[in-house]
Amino acid sequence: MNYSADPERYDTMTYNRCGRSGLHLPAISLGLWHNFGGVDVPENGRKIIRHAFDHGITHFDLANNYGPPPGSAEEHFGKILAIDLASYRDELVISTKAGYEMWPGPYGEWGSRKYLVSSLDQSLRRMKLDYVDIFYSHRPDPDTPMEETMMALDHLVRQGKALYVGISSYSADQTREALGILRKLGTPCLIHQPKYSMLDRWVEGGLLDLLEAEGVGCIAFSPLAQGLLTDRYLQGIPEDSRAGRSSGFLKAEEVTDDLIRRVKQLNELARQRGQSLAQMAIAWLLKDPRVTSVLVGASSTTQLQDNLRALGNTWFEPHELEAIDRLLS
Ligand SMILES: NC(=O)c1ccc[n+]([C@@H]2O[C@H](COP(=O)([O-])OP(=O)(O)OC[C@H]3O[C@@H](n4cnc5c(N)ncnc54)[C@H](OP(=O)(O)O)[C@@H]3O)[C@@H](O)[C@H]2O)c1
Repeated sequence: MNYSADPERYDTMTYNRCGRSGLHLPAISLGLWHNFGGVDVPENGRKIIRHAFDHGITHFDLANNYGPPPGSAEEHFGKILAIDLASYRDELVISTKAGYEMWPGPYGEWGSRKYLVSSLDQSLRRMKLDYVDIFYSHRPDPDTPMEETMMALDHLVRQGKALYVGISSYSADQTREALGILRKLGTPCLIHQPKYSMLDRWVEGGLLDLLEAEGVGCIAFSPLAQGLLTDRYLQGIPEDSRAGRSSGFLKAEEVTDDLIRRVKQLNELARQRGQSLAQMAIAWLLKDPRVTSVLVGASSTTQLQDNLRALGNTWFEPHELEAIDRLLS
């Protein structure tokens, strides 16, 4: 059946300016790391993407290696783009990345110019796109000079294959260095993509302050700690969950009794706020204006619907924040 996007799709989403750039991103974006690979049900992924776009999610985040198998999420997304979203390309911000292992041999991972340039060409072919909106260096490379990696990003923008560039999982010091090089090259860094959730707050140790001072956006990945900060594991590990599936990155050993005891208390706090735990976890990130967007994953439209409702209340009373900190300290 032909898809036509909901005419009211822009009515409820909040759009935040990404750093000091001209680009606005939705407060909630969708990531395709899990649930969109060759091992997943294609029609389910298609439904999730349509649901996202119908509710104002304009930003979809990929990487060369998303699947499994690696590359299959980009291929799948390319098909959905062609079938459903071709006429909406100018309403979409599509990102991809290179940094982790993608093909065998010395040129298939990390941060060399050789790898980054070839990888983006491959990604564009898989998604059948002329350009991506954002291209990231997926992780810092300890062995490649930072200049080489940043020059490759700048080169790809000048070639018209990416409109903006970003970096992911770079420490505050590495970020400072990367931003300086990119600025000199004339391609300022648009955005940093770090892991950030109530359970993992490393960005508060300097990175967020740096990004704010430098006018760079921040999009938080794994905001629900891969599902741990939801009601998913309150009654054990469901077979169809990320921790229950063999293809999932979350390991069953990470779902510990001690963690679930604390998650149950967080769940109660969320209930008192009139939110689901997933909603509270997303709202907790969005309370900070330095966070441009929260990059969620979802295995169903029901989960995405739940997550979108987080936007209804991103305000926290001081005693709520204290209670969360006490539970997680
Ligand atoms: N830059 C990087 O290095 C990097 C690394 C990781 C991720 N990312 C990006 O960040 C995106 C999000 O990461 P993530 O998937 O780990 O995010 P997440 O939002 O922390 O976890 C998503 C998972 O949580 C569960 N979930 C989501 N909403 C739920 C709800 N309302 N109720 C119950 N369970 C819910 C689902 O698990 P089930 O599948 O069990 O249902 C879903 O697959 C990725 O897709 C990717 O784009 C980037």
